[in-house]
Amino acid sequence: MKKNIHTNIDQIRNDFPILKRKVNGQNLIYFDNAATSQTPQIVIDSIADYYSKYNSNIHRGVHFLSQEATDAYEKSRVKFQKHFNADNSYEIIFTSGTTHSINIVANGFKKILKKNDEIIISQLEHHSNIVPWQMLCEETGAKIKVIPIDNNGELIIDKFENLLNSKTKLVFVNHVSNALGIVNPIKHIIKKAHEFNAIVLVDGAQATPHMKIDVVDLDVDFYVTSTHKICGPTGVGILYGKEKWLNKIPPFLGGGEMIDQVTFEKSTYAGLPNKFEAGTPNISGVIASGIGIDYLNSIGLEEIYKYENELLEYATKKLLLIKDLKIYGFSTKKTSVISFNVGNIHPYDIGSILDKFGIATRTGQLCAQPIMDYFKIPGTIRVSFSFYNTKEEIDEFIKALHKAILMLS
Ligand code: ALA
Repeated sequence: MKKNIHTNIDQIRNDFPILKRKVNGQNLIYFDNAATSQTPQIVIDSIADYYSKYNSNIHRGVHFLSQEATDAYEKSRVKFQKHFNADNSYEIIFTSGTTHSINIVANGFKKILKKNDEIIISQLEHHSNIVPWQMLCEETGAKIKVIPIDNNGELIIDKFENLLNSKTKLVFVNHVSNALGIVNPIKHIIKKAHEFNAIVLVDGAQATPHMKIDVVDLDVDFYVTSTHKICGPTGVGILYGKEKWLNKIPPFLGGGEMIDQVTFEKSTYAGLPNKFEAGTPNISGVIASGIGIDYLNSIGLEEIYKYENELLEYATKKLLLIKDLKIYGFSTKKTSVISFNVGNIHPYDIGSILDKFGIATRTGQLCAQPIMDYFKIPGTIRVSFSFYNTKEEIDEFIKALHKAILMLS
């Protein structure tokens, strides 16, 4: 049964031991969830459980512990297959994070792309969805085209459609902007890209904490995310790929477990998913990530989206009452992320004072320099809410922000 967050908020907050921490002598108010979400005790316990009861390498030993660890690791894969509604569990590849997942795909197209082929990305991308494609273009001679944004920070979809042509081979967009929280119309983007036979990778790092993803319904070719933003530990990423594309691209890392036959003349590769999981993976992290996704689903992503949207609206209204405060990113569809500046005060200064009040925010370019360049600003202060945050915390934050502005004006 799904939980009503309002009526269960105390119990939910109790599940996260870190929320009881004091920071700089104040109760921690954690508003940096877009960078990483906090970890429920059940996930922390599962890591200790693995190391104290069945620490062992997977897919290798005939012994009891190895089989127990392998079963738990593979069970986690099936959980993510079901969560993302993938057709097959072997279409879920475990990586070290979103960046690693994107690099697997970028590397995979090195021998497929040709000079003057075109790759479309957007102005809203995180650096991790820009730099690997630039590296790919340096090697192949392909060219990057950029979907521009408007003053609200929304992608100009007409311009995207104008960029598509027979040279377009790949389209890479994020589902939700990490800097602005805007939800992009990816279903439409995927459909249009496919009309030109282009392959689409969606960076879902900022979407998966807030909404249910159905990769089959989206018809997306690759979808990537990190589990540390969905109640799991750091160091685990997901690469979903359609079977036909995962079979087409070569492995990124060579080593143990990803092979079929090895001789000094030639090696052949294992099938999916092992082909992309060379070496000993983050076994405890993958198992714990499965516990994290179960936890998230026990609350329910629909309930989470609704609750976080209330926090977003509440905080937006309060912030807009502050003189000279400017919010970047307006859309009818946003996740619980607000990026803002106050007059000419440097975001870093406000962030540092908020920290003295125990409030964790992110400041600066947010790994999205092209967005900051578009708005001609050095960066922003970003607050990002999760389902364990409350309106009372937002009230405390607004009070602290007023004090910071007074000190810095
Ligand atoms: N990409 C993460 C963020 O937006 C780290 O903060």
